[in-house]
This record gives sequence, C-alpha cells and structure tokens, in this order.
Amino acid sequence: MNQPVIALCYGTRPQVIKASVLRRALERNTQVMAVDTGQHYDYELNQLLYEQLGVAPPDRFLETGSGSHAEQTASILTRTDALLRTERPRMVVVIGDTNSTLGCALAAVKARIPVVHVEAGLRAADGLMAEEINRRMVDAVSDVLCAPSAAAAELLRRERPGASIHQTGDVACDVLRRLEDTLPSPTDLLPEGVQPPFYYATLHRAELTDDAVRLRGVIETLAALDRPVVLPLHPRTRAALGVNGSLPQRRDNLFLIPATGYVESAGFARSATAVITDSGGVQREAYWLGTPCVTLRGETEWHETVAAGANLLVNPDDAPETLAGAIGRQCARWKGREWDCGAYGDGNAAGRVADAVNRWLEQHA
Ligand code: UD1
Repeated sequence: MNQPVIALCYGTRPQVIKASVLRRALERNTQVMAVDTGQHYDYELNQLLYEQLGVAPPDRFLETGSGSHAEQTASILTRTDALLRTERPRMVVVIGDTNSTLGCALAAVKARIPVVHVEAGLRAADGLMAEEINRRMVDAVSDVLCAPSAAAAELLRRERPGASIHQTGDVACDVLRRLEDTLPSPTDLLPEGVQPPFYYATLHRAELTDDAVRLRGVIETLAALDRPVVLPLHPRTRAALGVNGSLPQRRDNLFLIPATGYVESAGFARSATAVITDSGGVQREAYWLGTPCVTLRGETEWHETVAAGANLLVNPDDAPETLAGAIGRQCARWKGREWDCGAYGDGNAAGRVADAVNRWLEQHA
C-alpha cells in the first residue's frame, strides 16, 4: 500500500465492530492502514465480525494472542512499534479501553506519532480494573480525544485542557443504527425448547469469570429465573465453567449456546424481555434498542444508561432474589414506555471522528 496517513488499530471483538464504521469514514479522505493486533483470534470473536459487518481484512495482522495483561500489552507494544517505525503514519487511531488500545497508543507516542482516542473521557469508580487503567492512560497521552457523551467531553476539558477535544457520539451507535433493520428475529435465533418471552444474558469480564464462586452463583441465579435465559459463551466463560462438548446445553432455565456474531447478539438483545450482562457494549445496545437492562457490576462507565433508568446495576454477589427483583422492577417500569436514548449521539459519530482527524491533519500539515 502507499504510505498510510492513518493507522487504525484495534484487536478485540468490540473494536472490530467499531472499526467497521470508522474505517469507512476515515477512508473517504485519507489513506488508512487497518491494523488488527490479534488480541482476539477465534473465528466467532474476529473473522465472523469482518464477514457480518462487511469489513475488508486488515492490512496488517499482528498475531498477538492471549497472555497475562503485561505479556499481552508488551507484545502489542513491541509489534506495533516495529510496524510504526517502518510505515510512519502521520496519526494512530485507537478505540476504547482494551490492552490493544493501550499497547498501540504507547507504541505511537513513543515513536512521536500523535494519537486519536475514540471513546475517550469515560470513567468508572474501580481505578484498578484493567480497562479503567487503560482508558485513563490512553486519555493522558492522546492528542485528539473523541468523547461519546457530553459528560465525557466535559471531564476531558477539565483533565486535558490543551488537547483537541470533540464530542462525537459513540461509533457503536452508528453500527447498530446501520444494521438495525436487518437483525434476525427470535424464530431464527432461539435454541430448540425456548419460546419468547426470554431473557438474554452475556458474561465475559475477568472480574466475574475468574472468581469461581461468584461465577457459579450467577449461573445458578440465572438458571432459577422465571423465564428461559439464553447465554452465549465467550471462550473465557466457557473455559471458566468447564463446559465441554457441543452446545446448546440446558441447565434448568438457562440455555448455554456458542458465542454469537454481532447481528445475532443484537437480535437477541432487541427481542428479549430484558438483558442481563456485564458487557459495556451490550448495556448500550439494550439502551438503544429499548430493552430494559440489568448490569451485573457494582458500577459502570456508561452512566447515562443508568441515569435514564434503562440500566440497573446489581452486584453479582447479591442474593438471587435481588437480581430477580431488579429484572422484575425494570420490566414493570418500562412496559409500554420508552426512555430517551440520545445520550451517545445520533448514529453519525464515525463521520465526526473523521472530521476531527482531518482538521487536525490540515492544521499540522
Ligand atoms: C477483552 C478486553 C475487554 C473487552 C473484551 C471483549 C482487555 C483488558 N479486556 O477481554 O475490555 O470487553 O475483550 O470481548 O483488553 N480467548 C480465546 N479466544 C480468543 C480470545 C481470547 O479463547 O479469541 C480466551 C483466552 O483464554 C484469553 C481469555 O479469553 O486468555 C481472555 O482474553 P483477553 O483478550 O485477554 O480478554 P477478554 O476477556 O476477551
């Protein structure tokens, strides 16, 4: 390829999803090199998303793979460093708060290449959570900060008064709005033996999966709910639960199914009576799709979903009745009613990110 102007770096499932719209928007005006770090490599977490979202394969695949946080971040840093020193793009765009976000951003600043952080300015209370460390560090070293909400932009203006700060909206909203009319219906999705109404659950965060007692408690709680619960298994959750053999498998009211692609997950979230999740992405998809959500975390960085009442936080260690009660309250509260779901923009965030990048490039020609 010609010398790239921008390196668009990503590596996990949610980042492939967001990169799909960012790449299109950036490529309208600029030569883009798409770099997939390979943090996620299983078919369902990587290639399937390229196929479903119609994204061209990455220009570079760094094959980082799994490891401890330090090993993974270090490997992403050194591999990205080698690439940036050869290709010398004028800017590096990173997304979100994963180890790929931090590794690529660090490689860029150390090579003195300016960084654009998409999904900047988010904060959760737990300062030791891996994602919180990543997002704070990337915000601290980025030159252009693209905030998904007014509160995130406001925080950045206080923390980084000299940086170029833009309230762009959330690129994940763009993806959903683009595909909303094509999402599969429940009849195409539900495993045998499940009829609507049902709940849709996702669990993947280390804080939950790596604590065997906590994870078992949540699984037992889900299995005892009053409706069927469909739970696709992220590879990490599947390993933590020791689930062998083919899926789907049933445990009382809980139906374990294989990891899904983007459109299936959003289709489940749209058709479910309620969503139960620990994922930031799924919390927002439920918020945009009008499905009440209960988040199994004591906190969230997506404060606006909670302020709207669309999302209730429940501590995963609470008694089973607490989760059942929260779901019941959410469903009763929103039956036949809707919340305002405009806190993260209008589905045109990627275009605003591209405008911010192009303006910066013009000003620093
Ligand atoms: C990562 C992100 C998290 C994001 C999530 C989306 C960090 C710190 N966390 O978490 O913010 O919400 O991606 O899914 O970057 N594994 C596989 N196949 C794969 C990838 C992973 O089996 O393709 C297994 C491996 O055992 C690995 C474990 O999952 O050790 C965790 O993967 P990792 O990329 O470290 O973190 P995630 O939990 O996926």
